[in-house]
Amino acid sequence: MPDRKSERRSGRDRRGDDVRPAAEAAAPVAERRSGKDRRDDAAWQPVSIEVPEAPSDSDLALVTAATDARTRAQAHYSHFQVGAALETDDGVIIKGCNIENATYGLTLCAERVALVKALSDGHSIFTRIAVVADTDAPTPPCGPCRQLLWEYCGDIDIILGNLNGPTGCVRLSALLPMPFDRRLLD
Ligand code: THU
Repeated sequence: MPDRKSERRSGRDRRGDDVRPAAEAAAPVAERRSGKDRRDDAAWQPVSIEVPEAPSDSDLALVTAATDARTRAQAHYSHFQVGAALETDDGVIIKGCNIENATYGLTLCAERVALVKALSDGHSIFTRIAVVADTDAPTPPCGPCRQLLWEYCGDIDIILGNLNGPTGCVRLSALLPMPFDRRLLD
């Protein structure tokens, strides 16, 4: 990982960070006004994912923790097992896995399980989260998870990985460039 990463591992609270400028739109607005079906647009492609040449030991440790958490996924319906590992400012790693239920809609994602475990144990400052699934393509946090991670963690790094190890890193603000948060409630 580039050196810039190590600067992001300090214990500073990231919840008040300014949001970075949004990524450029995929195409000029005029071209986006045609009637074509946009559901197949690869909307995440403008998001720049940093791919590690040689993952650091701490990236490896976090991804290993997420990989371990994944083995306890309760994914009886989707069979898509996900593990997450959330790191606190003082180096504690809290694991989570996805937990599904017969009503489907009550599914808890791995990231949210890790987050609620951490918060309920009294942790409040976070530096990074790793997310692991058994896929070649990265598994980024879903929309509700992005919202909750933003609220409680701020602009953290998200380490993406699969069973072979880390595959990339992206800042949460790149995934949620125009968040609704408590500052807008004033
Ligand atoms: N899932 C996660 O746990 N985290 C993600 O980042 C994406 C999706 C879970 C939810 C559900 O149990 C399964 O993966 C399929 O969507």
